[in-house]
Amino acid sequence: MEQLAVIGNPIEHSKSPDIHHAFAAQTELSVNYTKILGDLEGFEQQVRDFFADGGLGLNVTVPFKQRAFDMCDKLSKRAEQAGAVNTLMMGKNGELYGDNTDGAGMVRDIVKVLEQPLKDKRILVLGAGGAVRGVLGPMMAQNPDIITIANRTVAKAEELALQFSCDYSSYDDLEGPFDIIVNGSSASLGGELPPLKDSLVSDKTWVYDMVYGAEPTVFMQWAFARGAQGADGLGMLVGQAAEAFFLWLHKRPEQAPVIEKLRAEM
Ligand code: ATR
Repeated sequence: MEQLAVIGNPIEHSKSPDIHHAFAAQTELSVNYTKILGDLEGFEQQVRDFFADGGLGLNVTVPFKQRAFDMCDKLSKRAEQAGAVNTLMMGKNGELYGDNTDGAGMVRDIVKVLEQPLKDKRILVLGAGGAVRGVLGPMMAQNPDIITIANRTVAKAEELALQFSCDYSSYDDLEGPFDIIVNGSSASLGGELPPLKDSLVSDKTWVYDMVYGAEPTVFMQWAFARGAQGADGLGMLVGQAAEAFFLWLHKRPEQAPVIEKLRAEM
């Protein structure tokens, strides 16, 4: 049986075991996926112990993604760009290998939800923190017309824009409408909304919130009230898991039935 786990703090809420067990059932693989409560001081030792005990793959979540990045011997290009690691495994020579599947998972989900590629789209990304850094590389790889990053602290948007060859703006100076708006700010988590002008959306705009919940987020409610369509980040959660599952076990599971099941349970 393959040993997999997710490490984070807090960890109780994590849906990753359910998601990976559903993937394992689909692909007829024998998997035991557990949750590890990360120790704020001893995280690195917990990671080493997991692999020393024969673990195959480890997901890393808040607040350890940067520490996982720092301890890797080898990194994928997308992890390097993201400056964060959410998926760990051992390389052939015992080196710790880190990847970041968040961006690929999100792009795959957006393309599915929109039923069209990101190519040539005008995209607005809200926020310039770790979550956004993790998805810009895979988004730019889809050749959009433009990605504009807007952030409350404009200097952080500028820094990311330089790294990923995007545009950046303050919320005040934005000019819409955009084809797609991705909310990567953590405002939704606190039930808050960035200062968005009505002119940023039209009835052709698609919005995507990187967080998810039982009800549409405040950002989605704001966009829906102005005629936009969209989705929350539940598909991204399942998408990043599917990318990690593929990396560890070389099988690509079906995501849609797993998203449906989680949605029904919320
Ligand atoms: P994460 O890892 O979730 O990205 P983070 O790195 O702390 O968390 O980044 C949070 C992002 O949400 C930042 O871009 C933050 O804006 P600032 O850089 O100006 O702080 C943004 N954010 C958080 N609360 C917000 C709010 N109420 N309105 C607008 N932006 C908000």
